[in-house]
Amino acid sequence: MAPTRSVLIALARARVPALIVLLACAAAARPSAQSPEVSRLLAGIKAADTDLLAVSQEDGRFLRTMVIAANAQQALEIGGANGYSAIWIGLGLRETGGHLTSIEYDPGRAKIEADNIRKAGLADIVRVVPGDAFKKIPTVPGTFDFVFLDAWKRDYKRFYDMVFPRLRAHGLFLAHNVVNKQSEMRDFLAAIQNSPDAVSSIVTPSGEGMSVTVKLARP
Ligand SMILES: C[S@@+](CC[C@H](N)C(=O)[O-])C[C@H]1O[C@@H](n2cnc3c(N)ncnc32)[C@H](O)[C@@H]1O
Repeated sequence: MAPTRSVLIALARARVPALIVLLACAAAARPSAQSPEVSRLLAGIKAADTDLLAVSQEDGRFLRTMVIAANAQQALEIGGANGYSAIWIGLGLRETGGHLTSIEYDPGRAKIEADNIRKAGLADIVRVVPGDAFKKIPTVPGTFDFVFLDAWKRDYKRFYDMVFPRLRAHGLFLAHNVVNKQSEMRDFLAAIQNSPDAVSSIVTPSGEGMSVTVKLARP
């Protein structure tokens, strides 16, 4: 955030060393990775999220980072809700030139998600598919190199079994809430940790927990 003129004057009056003031100015001049409009949109989605469905801002940043690091091209999201995580993934895909299919069961949420994607200027990158992902995934053509799972937790293992065969070698499968809701997905956690065809790690950017599973290349 930019320090205002009055803040800088106050710093100078308080005899804060010039180097610190210069560093504050440099930080202010650094461009953000997303526009102020998209930052405001993301904050608005969070503010309206009374059901607390959306991932945290830090988990969103983590998703964007992973998309770019993996150079993801064909991404799939299961459980899009109002589009908060889809926007973070879409921001990463804008960098890589990839595309996201985001599936949301609730028709009202899917409509809000599509509106939010349009407001974020990501309609050419993110396609929102309303409906039950168990039925919709088989209709999405091709393979995936980035999957984000954030639907109901007891369904995680079934979704993993359904999607993992369609994940490319070295593709990423990420799942949310693997720390704070681990009791609801023990079968999924056992599957990713014991799979001979994948390696997994669990990180906690904000406490809820994100599993990151990489599919190994096998002949
Ligand atoms: C925790 S919220 C997702 C939050 C979203 N990923 C975000 O961070 O903005 C879970 C969503 O998954 C959706 N969902 C649950 N089961 C689903 C299914 N079988 N197919 C598609 N969506 C599903 C719910 O309707 C709900 O909106």
